[in-house]
Amino acid sequence: VIPLSLQRRVESLIQDHYDRALLRSDKANAMLEGNSTSEDIKEVRPDANQGSLIDAHVMEKILYRKSFRMKNLQRTWQESPEGSKMLTFRKSLPAYREKERLLSAIAHNQVIVISGETGCGKTTQLPQYVLESEIESGRGAFCNIICTQPRRISAMSVAERVSTERGENIGESVGYKVRLEGMRGKDTHLLFCTSGILLRKLLGDRNLNGVTHLFVDEIHERGMNEDFLLIVLKDLLSRRKDLRLILMSATLNAELFSNYFGDAPTIHIPGFTYPVRTHFLEDILESTGYKLTSSNQLDDYGQDKLWKTQRQLMPRKRKNQITSLVEDALKNTSFECYGSRTRDSLANWNPDCIGFNLIEAVLCHICRKERPGAVLVFMTGWDDISCLRDQLKAHPLLGDPNRVSLLTCHGSMATSEQKLIFERPPPNVRKIVLATNMAEASITINDIVFVVDCGKAKETTYDALNNTPCLLPSWISKASARQRRGRAGRVQPGECYHLYPRCVYEAFNEYQLPELLRTPLNSLCLQIKSLQLDSIGKFLCAALQPPEPLAVQNAVDFLKMIGALDENENLTNLGKYLSMLPVDPKLGKMLIMGAVFRCLDPILTVVSGLSVRDPFLLPQDKKDLAGTAKSRFSAKDYSDHMALVRAYEGWKDAEREGSAYEYCWRNFLSAQTLQAIHTLRKQFGYILKDANLVDLDARTCNSLSHNQSLVRAIICSGLFPGIASVVHRESSMSFKTMDDGQVLLYANSVNAKYQTIPYPWLVFGEKVKMNTVFIRDSTGVSDSIVMLFGGALGKGEMVGHLKMLDGYIDLFMDPSLAECFVQLKEELDKLIQKKLEDPTVDIHKEGK
Ligand code: CDP
Ligand code: MG
Repeated sequence: VIPLSLQRRVESLIQDHYDRALLRSDKANAMLEGNSTSEDIKEVRPDANQGSLIDAHVMEKILYRKSFRMKNLQRTWQESPEGSKMLTFRKSLPAYREKERLLSAIAHNQVIVISGETGCGKTTQLPQYVLESEIESGRGAFCNIICTQPRRISAMSVAERVSTERGENIGESVGYKVRLEGMRGKDTHLLFCTSGILLRKLLGDRNLNGVTHLFVDEIHERGMNEDFLLIVLKDLLSRRKDLRLILMSATLNAELFSNYFGDAPTIHIPGFTYPVRTHFLEDILESTGYKLTSSNQLDDYGQDKLWKTQRQLMPRKRKNQITSLVEDALKNTSFECYGSRTRDSLANWNPDCIGFNLIEAVLCHICRKERPGAVLVFMTGWDDISCLRDQLKAHPLLGDPNRVSLLTCHGSMATSEQKLIFERPPPNVRKIVLATNMAEASITINDIVFVVDCGKAKETTYDALNNTPCLLPSWISKASARQRRGRAGRVQPGECYHLYPRCVYEAFNEYQLPELLRTPLNSLCLQIKSLQLDSIGKFLCAALQPPEPLAVQNAVDFLKMIGALDENENLTNLGKYLSMLPVDPKLGKMLIMGAVFRCLDPILTVVSGLSVRDPFLLPQDKKDLAGTAKSRFSAKDYSDHMALVRAYEGWKDAEREGSAYEYCWRNFLSAQTLQAIHTLRKQFGYILKDANLVDLDARTCNSLSHNQSLVRAIICSGLFPGIASVVHRESSMSFKTMDDGQVLLYANSVNAKYQTIPYPWLVFGEKVKMNTVFIRDSTGVSDSIVMLFGGALGKGEMVGHLKMLDGYIDLFMDPSLAECFVQLKEELDKLIQKKLEDPTVDIHKEGK
């Protein structure tokens, strides 16, 4: 029998020990229980406090043993020949010189801001230093490091690289997680993920329990997710005193971030790059023997205020002025070194569409006259890249695979292609990489010596006043231009060809406008709501640079309109489901409705197609043929979305017969995009299944897929309020949107081929402001579809809304008919609500 006093004493000792162990064991639990599919940062179990002492104790032991093993593994690798070779390389990176300073700063401060030139080793080295030092000190299994990347491809390629540097396979101590894809195991202690994924994690665990170090990378880009994360993290830091936050930036404006986090210490990693010779357009022209004499005019142009506000469209007069200037410049020029094709083509240069021929000419020049070294071409987007690639492939020199290895680098490329970019080409073959601005900072290709910079990037801008997103190639900032130039000087002195005049460069903004200020906030507001943060407006006021109140209001109105928020801005059932789906709320709604109404297959195809990109190719020189090929899929459906569904299904059939290649070739379809759509479809299917919305039994969830009108209706339910009325006047046809704006159809829309469209409405996914406002893919729908499936659930208000529209009147001449529709809609909405409240309810059984 133990005396009571002693018993107490032992108990209190145990309790003390237990408390300390518990802290660690929570993290341990989170990690041990995580396997490759489930989240490895789990919310601490509510019952953890009552967990038995033995558990905590055993767990701790396991973790110490695991840490010990990790330490041994790490040492073995570092002492191996390959390992030490790798270590020598890593020590040559500028980041290495700051290693000790960084680690001690991280140990002593909750937040630090690190800046350093691209390629100095921020992303691959810093998180790795932390991991290594934790492992070395025997706490490897207790740490849990996350590093966010703005783009999925950089998350994947960096994780791959760090695994290699550690002599491991990906998914061992280092892993990645991006939207709908991931590679990690129960031993993963350093995870690279997109910032979107981290935000999603925060949904499930507002405290990020178990995470010890968080790196937020590329904050200088001021992406929406990063800006959003910073607001959330600022709040989180006060609750998680032990969490370490490290912000990393490629440019020197660290002060801004440091101030935001109460003067957090900043560290700059001095980098080393070789000098890069810069050529602006006039220098390029001059090197061909022509001198620009009208530089005054250019100056005048460059000083124009409109250039300074990059979001503005260029006035036509100015554009003509500069185009003719360049044309003049070219008329008297001989281009022996560029070859004869260039001559007329250079004249096509105009500031709004980068002359492919100019790029071709510069590439030819490099291949013929310049020293060996890879070339990186910065283009505006995927469309441009694929068009230019087609053009170059037809060129005798640039298209010759024995002399040129032509590669592309963009956000949605295949993994096999990704690897090629980093590989060295065979001797005497010149590597040319056509890239979007993602190669600016987040991806490092080592052997680049030449950079060709078109000066533009396609970015969404957002016009809050007209509530229209615009997708325009717009001029980049000075910071971006510097960044692009810097890519040439990584291994030896380099050359950079800026395809615009120097005075234009002088007029660039210093930095790019943060994304938060130039995109619609729909998804973001939904996320704020589902994270149960403050009121949306109040929350966003805490941003580094808060968005305009009008933009916030538009987003809230939109979410109310589609039924994701109720009148009091609370999340509805639909809203809850939407926040689980990693897609734009509109597409999310379409998916949910497709599942509820059992026409899942076509809807999966439509949503995947809209979130990847259009698989219909549109080669510049074969536009007509491509257009005809596309309309073969439309069969009087008056729907681009249906054409997509048919094209995809045809491809699946062709694949089964082994003729997928010919099928794509014949129909101007991109096999790569179709493959991406195929993958995404599957993943959306799984997510809907996880949410219990479908049972993935192909028959039940597709029992109504053959019903064309229903599929149309579901497309409408997602795309609403993207709707335009079709106005037939005499022999012409025009389209008017809700806000009374005129829109045009994209040339390759199937609906652009018709003289008349037998539907009163077109629903569309995207309204894009170019010179005029265009709508891209559209589907014709009837009045009754719009009545029943447009707008929020359970709202008769729609009628009022529709009354404002032109062309609507016919239907409502008869008030009793209108009344009937309102009732019908209410019935329908009730059913949908019921299903969303309890997904196990079978609304189809109830007979409606
Ligand atoms: O993040 P930061 O731009 O500072 O550099 P990083 O991505 O960490 O890259 C550091 C260095 O690692 C680069 O300069 C490359 O030499 C090398 N690296 C590589 O060889 N292969 C990769 N996939 C990524 C980086
Ligand atoms: Mg980096």
